[in-house]
Amino acid sequence: MAKAKSTAFFCGECGYESAKWMGQCPACKQWNTFTEQPVTVKSKRTSVNTVSSKPVKLSSVTIEDEDRMSTGYVELDRVLGGGIVKGSLILVGGDPGIGKSTLLLQMCRQISNLGKNVLYVSGEESLKQIKMRASRIGEFTGDMQLLCENNLDTIEDSIRECMPQVVIIDSIQTMYKENIDSAQGSISQVRESTNVLMQLAKGLSISIFIVGHVTKEGVVAGPRVLEHMVDTVLYFEGDKNAMYRILRAVKNRFGSTNEIGVFEMKSSGLEEILNPSEYMLEGRPKGASGTVVACYIEGTRPMLIEIQALVTHSNLGIPRRTSAGADYNRVNLLMAVIEKRLNLQIGGCDAYVNIAGGIKINDPSVDLALVAAIISSYKNREIPSNTMIFGEVGLSGEVRSVSMAENRVQEAIKLGFDTVILPKGSLKLFDKQTSIKLIGVENIRELADLI
Ligand code: TYD
Ligand code: MG
Repeated sequence: MAKAKSTAFFCGECGYESAKWMGQCPACKQWNTFTEQPVTVKSKRTSVNTVSSKPVKLSSVTIEDEDRMSTGYVELDRVLGGGIVKGSLILVGGDPGIGKSTLLLQMCRQISNLGKNVLYVSGEESLKQIKMRASRIGEFTGDMQLLCENNLDTIEDSIRECMPQVVIIDSIQTMYKENIDSAQGSISQVRESTNVLMQLAKGLSISIFIVGHVTKEGVVAGPRVLEHMVDTVLYFEGDKNAMYRILRAVKNRFGSTNEIGVFEMKSSGLEEILNPSEYMLEGRPKGASGTVVACYIEGTRPMLIEIQALVTHSNLGIPRRTSAGADYNRVNLLMAVIEKRLNLQIGGCDAYVNIAGGIKINDPSVDLALVAAIISSYKNREIPSNTMIFGEVGLSGEVRSVSMAENRVQEAIKLGFDTVILPKGSLKLFDKQTSIKLIGVENIRELADLI
């Protein structure tokens, strides 16, 4: 009789299981992510329902009122959909060093200072290291508990013993269960550990935050493996060089997934940026040509950003084009549209486009602003600094409406702009009496005439 196979191949990105090795994962399309690992025999079947296993009437299920807890941060609360839901399992993913531990420690400080019982479990740092980080971010008046441990059975005992309201597991890749014989950080370990934490969260009504490092290689299981198991998935992202960080809800069983929160890494921890537009526009040059304020939508929030273009005559056979932050092909396309529709000889010019603040944008609603910046630089005419521009540009130079026009105009009003140039088609959304001057344009010719 053939012996039962005790190993299988797993994708390190998404956890896809296969009997044989494959170069590309059929599920997530990543290359070279398969590793051979022991297969775990599933322990007993588990259910997250601790009350009954019989069908009940929907109308007979009651929801308690007070089941959300504030984190003490407006931005974090918004991303979570209005606070931490009791008994939920939340995954916080992100590149190493982006600030996940810092964010969660700061959250613990806020919660424990309110007299709540919090347990911070670290499998990566020593008590001393955590204390050092804690002293950077401020005073802890509450009695937060720390545990440096990797063995999940010990952690489970501690949780059952001190019954905290909030638990942080930093990070899931450093945890292991003894009865599973694959290595720490492997897919089986990470999955099984999450499963145990899920049972604890639901069974004891404790909110558990799991930290998961995003990994480049398939050696250590990345947080994507867990996305389907948890209630909420937050990703913390940002450029290592730029100081701001964006916390994004990718999945949320208790709220919208379009929410983002913006933070800045300072020497004393993360600070919320309640008004990101103001932050992004800080230090903008006044009275220079080739700079324009545009608006793009991040999640559900309009963000104002500065777009800069520099167009100069080229001494090279093939002109140079670079684009930082905006899509390179899109910039080339818009330049071709400008050349063709406006008869401007910019084909032989060098062009450099930059979006200030190191932001990357892939949103056609900034097209019109890009066009304005390019024309402004080419003609050396400045665009008034109190003007904001948005709209999509098509191949025949027409300006198309974009979503959420009202929110974009509202954001411009909030930041004290006095003129908005927008697609003519969006004008009908507004009353005659807006506190801001709205100029509708139908094509880029009308925009060029304004400049
Ligand atoms: P950390 O929270 O350890 O990242 P993660 O848990 O996601 O791996 O963040 C570490 C980085 O943040 C590190 O490079 C130092 C920096 N940092 C500050 O700039 N200021 C601070 O107050 C703290 C605590 C960290
Ligand atoms: Mg960390």
